[in-house]
Amino acid sequence: MTAEATIPASAAGASSEPLLRTDNLRVHFPITEGILFERRVGAVRAVDGVSLEVRRGETLGLVGESGCGKSTFARAVIRLVDATEGSIHFDGTDVTRLTGDALRRMRRRMQMIFQDPYASLNPRMTIGSMLAEPLRVHDLAKGEQAARRARELIEIVGLPRNALNRYPHEFSGGQRQRAGIARALAVQPEFIAADEAVSALDVSIQAQIVNLLSQLQSEFNLTYLFIAHDLSVVRHISDRIAVMYLGEVVELSPSRELYERPLHPYTVALVSAVPIPDPKVESKRKRMILRGDVPSPANPPTGCRFHTRCWLRRELGDPERCTVETPELRQLAPGHGVACHFAEELTGNERRDELVTAAAAQSNVRDTDADAAATPTDVPAAPASDPDSFFPGDVSQH
Ligand SMILES: Nc1ncnc2c1ncn2[C@@H]1O[C@H](COP(=O)(O)OP(=O)(O)OP(=O)(O)O)[C@@H](O)[C@H]1O
Ligand code: SF4
Ligand SMILES: [Mg+2]
Repeated sequence: MTAEATIPASAAGASSEPLLRTDNLRVHFPITEGILFERRVGAVRAVDGVSLEVRRGETLGLVGESGCGKSTFARAVIRLVDATEGSIHFDGTDVTRLTGDALRRMRRRMQMIFQDPYASLNPRMTIGSMLAEPLRVHDLAKGEQAARRARELIEIVGLPRNALNRYPHEFSGGQRQRAGIARALAVQPEFIAADEAVSALDVSIQAQIVNLLSQLQSEFNLTYLFIAHDLSVVRHISDRIAVMYLGEVVELSPSRELYERPLHPYTVALVSAVPIPDPKVESKRKRMILRGDVPSPANPPTGCRFHTRCWLRRELGDPERCTVETPELRQLAPGHGVACHFAEELTGNERRDELVTAAAAQSNVRDTDADAAATPTDVPAAPASDPDSFFPGDVSQH
């Protein structure tokens, strides 16, 4: 991912009033047994108590390993799946249990862009009909007026005029994603959840789409929830980033700070696995390996959910508190929340370096090639300024 994708101008002046707010949001999927008499034997706790705000005009990035609940969170906030518990407020209104017309009206204001635009676009409809459809469904335009709006949308997302009469299979991946964006924009939403919207695209195309999303954000005052595995992509577009682990938010921070000074041991590991384009820097860098698989969200570990894989806990002599007490998201710096009982251990440079070095040495992680194979985090990436720095881009150690 390139650094050209800039943080949108609108974000700099983003108002502090949230457009979207979730309070203790839970989405549990029941696990059932039996054919004739189905009975509930458990639940997949995909989202398990997430309280987040997305401010007007900002981009909130959402990262975490596969299966940690990112998509379910996005689907819940735009009401594609029901919340099991907790609430969702949009523009000051509780939309958690809206139905019928009220839900339809609210849906117009919140749209989603998916990873695979081919799957989300109807292969039998031309792009023109696909853009006209939501306008008709939401009673926004029909006939010539809808056709005019479709032409306008095509231009806005940078597709050629003749795209209107063509089918999705006639386009490249990047063009299809542009069509997906045009469709989301058709109803003039205020909020867009982009779920791995650029993950399947080549790096150069990713940059173009991220830049397009940034331009559109400024132009139409959009608010984004931007989900991606690739931390480098999230970094360039996000104002703030939330890190999820097993259905919970474990760290929330302004974007730059998250990369320069991650305070949750999970984030530290994710950031350390970010590949650095400079091979010289890359070969000298230490990495933190996350051992073991992500536990099942149907049966998450007690206390801190990360305790089964936590390198900091190991370094601290396996304190019992981690296994019995769930850490709250505590604010350790302005706007920087961390859900770890021992996050203070990572706030001071000397102590942090000592712990990180010891943990990295323990897992013999100096050979980055070996790490690449062993690191289960398919996430991360960011440039480092100091070859010996553990944290990419960390200047605080000089
Ligand atoms: N409809 C469903 N029914 C049952 N379980 C589900 C359903 N949707 C998601 N899950 C489970 O919920 C958990 C969270 O899934 P989700 O897709 O939200 O994760 P994710 O962070 O988006 O992962 P990825 O990065 O792979 O897209 C997973 O264990 C998944 O298997
Ligand atoms: S609370 Fe304990 S197990 Fe959880 S992240 Fe902090 S040190 Fe690790
Ligand atoms: Mg997902």
